[in-house]
Order: sequence, then C-alpha cells, then structure tokens
Amino acid sequence: MQSSEIRENFLKYFEGKGHKILPGSSLVPKDPTVLLTLAGMLQFKPIFLGQEKPSYKRATTVQKCLRTNDIEQVGKTARHHTFFEMLGNFSFGDYFKTEAIEFAWEFLTVNLKLPKERLLIAVFEKDDEAYDIWKKKMDIPPDRIFRLGEDNNFWAAGPTGPCGPCSEIYYDLGPGKGCGQPDCQPGCDCDRFLEIWNLVFIQYNRDGSGQLIPLKQRGIDTGMGLERITAVIQKVDSNFDTDLFKQLIDDIKPLINPHPLIPVSEQVSLRIIADHARAATHLISDGVIPDNSGRGYILRRLIRRAIRHAKLLGGVIHPPFLSTLARSVIDQMKKVYPVLSEKRNLIIEILDREENNFWETLDQGMKIFQEVIAQHMQDKIIPGSIVFKLHDTFGFPIELSREIASEAGFKLDEAGFQKAMKAQRDRGRQAGIAGEKQKLLSLALEHINSTKFVGYEKTTDEGKVLVAVPGQNLIILDKTPFYGESGGQAGDTGLLSLGETEVRVVDTLITPKGVIVHEVDKLAGLKEGKKVKAIVDAAKRQATAKHHTATHLLHKALREVLGGHIKQAGSYVGPDKLRFDFSHFAAISRDDLIKVETLVNQKIHEKIKIETLQKDYQDALKLGATALFNEKYGDQVRVVRIDNFSLELCGGTHVQSTGELLFFKIINESALGAGVRRIEALAGQAAKVQVIYQAKSLRDEIEKLINHYRLVELEKENLGGEKFTETNIFQIELTELDRLSSAVDGQDAINVNKIFDHLTGRLEWLRERLTKSEKELRDLKLKSASQQAGDFLGEVLEIKGVKVLTKEFKTYSMDMLRSVSDTLQRQLKSCVLVFASNLHDRLIFLITVSPDLMAKGYSAQTLAATFSSVTGGKGGGKANSASGGGNDPSKIPEALDKVRKQLAI
Ligand code: SER
Repeated sequence: MQSSEIRENFLKYFEGKGHKILPGSSLVPKDPTVLLTLAGMLQFKPIFLGQEKPSYKRATTVQKCLRTNDIEQVGKTARHHTFFEMLGNFSFGDYFKTEAIEFAWEFLTVNLKLPKERLLIAVFEKDDEAYDIWKKKMDIPPDRIFRLGEDNNFWAAGPTGPCGPCSEIYYDLGPGKGCGQPDCQPGCDCDRFLEIWNLVFIQYNRDGSGQLIPLKQRGIDTGMGLERITAVIQKVDSNFDTDLFKQLIDDIKPLINPHPLIPVSEQVSLRIIADHARAATHLISDGVIPDNSGRGYILRRLIRRAIRHAKLLGGVIHPPFLSTLARSVIDQMKKVYPVLSEKRNLIIEILDREENNFWETLDQGMKIFQEVIAQHMQDKIIPGSIVFKLHDTFGFPIELSREIASEAGFKLDEAGFQKAMKAQRDRGRQAGIAGEKQKLLSLALEHINSTKFVGYEKTTDEGKVLVAVPGQNLIILDKTPFYGESGGQAGDTGLLSLGETEVRVVDTLITPKGVIVHEVDKLAGLKEGKKVKAIVDAAKRQATAKHHTATHLLHKALREVLGGHIKQAGSYVGPDKLRFDFSHFAAISRDDLIKVETLVNQKIHEKIKIETLQKDYQDALKLGATALFNEKYGDQVRVVRIDNFSLELCGGTHVQSTGELLFFKIINESALGAGVRRIEALAGQAAKVQVIYQAKSLRDEIEKLINHYRLVELEKENLGGEKFTETNIFQIELTELDRLSSAVDGQDAINVNKIFDHLTGRLEWLRERLTKSEKELRDLKLKSASQQAGDFLGEVLEIKGVKVLTKEFKTYSMDMLRSVSDTLQRQLKSCVLVFASNLHDRLIFLITVSPDLMAKGYSAQTLAATFSSVTGGKGGGKANSASGGGNDPSKIPEALDKVRKQLAI
C-alpha cells in the first residue's frame, strides 16, 4: 500500500464514522503561543478550550507538522523527523475514550490488517478507565498493556492550554531490532517498539500557573505519524525506506561529489538532507523566509544543516542543489499540498539564494574550526569569541557549531558566546539611541516618569513646564499634544507660546520611559512652573497622519499581493513621504507594484472610517493584529483598525477616514539589503503633485517623440516616400493625461495607473514606429542618392588623364556617400572620387580609387591624409577606399582643393 492510499484510507474510515474531513492548517499557526504547527490539534485549540463553537462535533485531518526537538536524532534513527505528517481524528465534546480506542483498533487491525499480536498498549499510570477499556472491552491481555508515567502518557501542546492523559499504540518490530535489555518495553529509546498512534483524552486546560483546570467539554485528539505507519505497512526497516522518501534520497545521490556508493555511516547525512529538504520546502511554501530569529531562523538552520551534511558527503557537484530536491518534494507532494505548486518559484528562488550565500562562508568557517580544534586539543573547548565569530561573520547557527564541535569531541564555551552576543547587542542599543540629546537629558529626566500625550484628540493644549534645559533648548511639559518621534512617525513641530513670547518647536522626541521632549529654537525665558500654550503645526501633522494611515494600508496590501511572509522591518512616516522597509526576497515586478498601489487606492476610494481601540495585548493578537517583532508592548495596547482590512498595534496618529488620503502613489522601490526591500510612497496632496509632475514629464516625452516622428515623416514625404498616415496619433492619450492633472480622489488614482500603463504601452509603440520610419527614411535617402549620381557626371574633371570628381554634399550620411560612390565607379570604371558632406555640423569624407589606378600608384589612404591635413580631423583606410571625419565643415572646399592639387603634381 502506498503512503497516498494510507492517507486516503484514514480520512475515508473516519468520514465513515461521522467525521468531517477538514484541511490541515499551515505550518505557521494562528496561535501566537507556538512558533510552528507541531500537531493536528493546534488548529482546534480554541474549540477544545470552549472559546469557539464548531459546526461539527467530529473532524479528521492530515496535518503537516514541524518539530525541532528531535533534530539531533534525525537520520540516526529509523523514525525521527523534523517535518512529518500526522493523521488525526478529533472529537469536540462528543465521543470519548471508549470510541477513540475502538476506532483506532478497528482501523489498525481490520482496515490496515496489522496482526494484533504485534500491537502493544501504553496508558497513563493513573488512568484506570483507559486500562479497563483496553483490557475488558478490547480483550487485550494484561501483559501487553503498560502503565507509564507523565513523561510518556500525558500530552500537552505546550506549557499552557488543553491537555490530558493519553494512550499509545506500539508496534513490535521484533526482538532483533531492540536493545535486548531485560526491561525493554514500550517507551524504551531503542528501535524495537515503534509508537505509531497517540490517543489523547483532552480533559484539562493547564493555566498560566501550571494548574490543571477541568474542561467543561472533554475531547479527543489523536495523532498517527504517516511516515511510521507507512514503514510498518511497507515492511521496511526505516521511514527513510518508504515511498515517502525513496525517490527523494535517490535524487540526492547523483548531486553529490564524488558519485557515491555511499557507506552506511553516510546514510545519516543523506537522510538528514532528505528530511531537511522536505521541511524547508514546506516552510517556505507556508510563507516562512530565512531570517535570524523566530521561524525564519529555524528554516535557516535546517537549510544550513543540510548544506553541511552535503559537504560531509564530499560536496555537491554543482551547487546550489537544495532547489533540485525541493522540485522533487514539490512534484511528489503537490497533489496533497497544492500550495507547493503555487509557491514553486518562490521556494526555488529562496533556497538558491540562501544556499549560495552559505557555501562560501561554510568553507571559510570550517577552516577556522579546524585551526581552533588543532589549537585546543588540551581543553577541547571552542572559545566563545570564536563561536561568536562563526555565528556573526560566517553564519554558523550556534546549534551547528555545537554539532560540529561534538563530532570532534569538543564543547563550546557557551557562556563566552552569550557574553559576546550581549556585548554586540549593547553596542547596537547604544548606537540606536538618538545620540547626544538623550544623554544630556538623562539627568533632568531622572525624576519624571512620563508625560501625558493629549495629541490624539487635539493639536492645541495648555501645559506646565516641568523641565527647561538651557544650552540644549529642550523643554518638557506635564502634558502636551506634540507627538514624540516613535514607531517610525516623525516628531511634531509647532509653537509654544506664553503671552507675547513664542518659541518654535523644531522636533519632538520621546524617551523609552515615555517622557516627551520638545526641542525648541530658543528658551526665551520659558522656565519651570510656567504655563504655556502648545500648538502643533496641524497641517504638517495632518500630512504625517495621511502617510501613517497609508503605511498601514500599504503593509496590508503588500501582504495581500506578495504573501504573508511580508514583515515590516522598519519605517519612516513624515509629512513629506513614507518609507516602508520589509522582508522580501526579490525585486517587486511593476505589475505587482501597480496591484499594491491600486489596492491602497481602492481602500482610499472606499472612504473607510479608522478606529482606534484599547486592548489587552493577548486579545489584540488573538484578533489577528499585526505586531512588530522585537518591539516591546505593554499589557494594554492601542490597536488601529481599518475595517476588516488592516489591524495593527500602533501608537501613531492617523486620519479619521481613508478618504482623506485622496491619492496614494509609490515613487520608489529598491533593495535595502539581502532579503529586505524598501518602498517610498506619497499620500494626499504630495501624491497628487507627484502624479501631476509625472503626467507632465510623460506628456513632454510623448510630445518630443511625436515632433521628431512628424519631421521624419515629412522628410520621407519630400523624398517621395510614403507617409505613415496618422496625423492625430496620441490625441486621446494627451487628453487623458490632461485629465490626470485634475484627478481628485482614490477612484481617479486607480485610473491614473491604468492611464499611465496604457500610455507607457503606447510610448513603446511609438518608439518602435519611429525606428521603423527612420529606417524607411534612410533607405529612401540611399535610393535617391544613387539615383542622383548620374547628375554629377558633368562635374567630372580630367587631371593628368585620370577622371576625378571632388564634391561637397549637404547632409549626406556616410551610407549615402558610399551609395553615390558605388554608382559612379560602376559608370566611370576608372576614377578617383573624393566626397565630403556637412552632416549636423560635422564633416565626413569618403575617398575611393578604382583598382586600375591603384595599380598605377594612386592611394585613397594618401589622399585622405592630404584631406585631413586641412581639416585637422582623423581619417584612415586602405588604398582603394578611405574615410574620416572632422569638426569644421567650413574647411571642406579648401580640403578638396588641396586634394585636387595633390593629384595634379
Ligand atoms: N496531539 C497528540 C500528539 O501530537 C496527538 O495528536 O501526539
């Protein structure tokens, strides 16, 4: 039976028992408490906890899972993986232990026909109920039922959440596979008893303090590893020998250098590569990209670990190689996981990039490792500073260094590594603080905890001066409407006034503690205790608010268009523009940029009201609010909601309705570093001005081209050529362009892109048309030049018995001179032709000598030298033909004269 049939049989069996077949969820879970989906029950957590009501009471899934806790075991044993698939059936307040056990038993023994005598059972030591069901109802002899402790038979998805006792079903692979110890039994670490199915009886919620709170509704969560049951059914020794892995492992071998008959010890590396290739492929398909923290770090670690094992095998013939394996994974699994096909290019691109980056540093890093190992044979410790250098400069995840070290019998100086990491973080933090100003303030600030910000509601207010720092021109008020620069939003500017005295606020900062500091142009007698009026520059604030709201819209639009892997990496929101930095692996196509821009403009057009809510941090996350990684949030957070489109934790100031944004325009997209892109954009009046400006330059360009085009057509007509009859080309477009200048709102903004796009297309067309016309004109000119050649026969002279024609042409190109020269040589047979032309205020010349005269010693090359001696330009060629140019066409008659004189000597 193939693994695909096992998947299908499982789902069908449970469907037959009233279960709804549901899709497995992404490897990136909605649940913020775990990094990755590690079991089938995760997507049902809110249901088990009674927070959500499902429309079904029984469900069944195939769930892709990723766990890193067994990563060291992968490849070394027959049964451990990082990525694996879990077959599961679930009951939500419906059936409980008895049916769960009956279903599992029936499926294994009847459907999959596993021999009963090979199956053993483990139950939680205190769970008499489960023990009795197995013994009495299922007739399992007591010597095949084992009571095990909490470690083995109490299951929880994490430190808190739904959990309960569980019962496991083991398959006995036979004494030959085991450790042979007298106490070997299910739960032993050896390979004899293979745990194939875990039935969890969910009946508690473990709260934050570790207490088990009984759930109102009990449930069932079971999980059977597809890789393991497939190995049993296919009667192979290891999961890696099943059809789930065979092809993939076969695909690795030819990539490895030298072509291997790989010994058993190296099978481990092969298996690790296969396991990690599956994991990396699926992670990327679910939107994870390599990073230095979180899920991205796990992905990076898997990729780098796979590359190192390829190196251990002797290297790869043509790196990058992981994408080749990804293709194999995709082809094999796309039917079950269509997202793999959808993300195919992305997966390949990310893997290639990440791999190429690592090969280089891997070699360098390994060299360092070898040196250090040689130096430290005594203490067998890799110093922390080296581990840090490997991590920081060569991209060795600490786990990888630990592994390499342990293979050589070494340990890492982990404390030293942590110290070096901390020192680096501190350096970063210091550099990140807004410099001198804050340092100088620190004294004054010691006694103030925070200032009250009233700027969400108003832009003018009264405040009392708490601190005025002379010399630094800094003022702190007890409350203020001025927004201090934070969260990417620029600080407010404006005025502080006291009667006649007015000081300008040139910038506003906020300290990490929340004290708002006004930087003013002068203190002008403002001192502690004085009451002042604080007036924010409302126009600037409004422009900034537009850009801030636009930033949220842009963030969401990028996620919609490019995918959920988009993460904000930084931003600037000011009155002049917005800048948004985010993680993404490649440049964004023009089409996608337009899609993003259009989506934002669409939201502007919808005039959506913007709401701000105060929420508990955890509640906000549950609602799906985007929070910034690395940002610290308090328990209570402010959430900015734009309908159901965008939800972000944010302390900034926003407009009240998206309609106020008027217009959104992306002005630049660029790379900021590996995997980080930057978009600059405008909203509001600034965007509109930008559009008008762009429309104007487009119009200028189109008009310039059209004028040029008309001239070419006219010249063609004059030469008797056919004129391409389109007199009013671009009239429609020019009118459209004019309309852009009067565009007013989001809908126009959407049209703007359409018009720009259309016009850019038309511009392309015009350029092509122009190239064609120019060619037609050139051909016409050549033709007419050769036709005219006969007219010049009357001007031919005889000098020393040789026919000579020296002539100046107006605006003839070199091609045209050649064409006349060829025609006349054919007619005159024996001749010397010396032609020059004034072409766009430069001179060009062409001199030709017929073969018979060449034989008599005439040389075009020599004559060219004579010509150039007058004009000062350059020339060159052979005896039969020479040409050249020069800067001063007025010298042509003199040069021709000199050539004639030369011929007469
Ligand atoms: N959640 C349990 C496990 O992961 C059963 O699915 O083992």
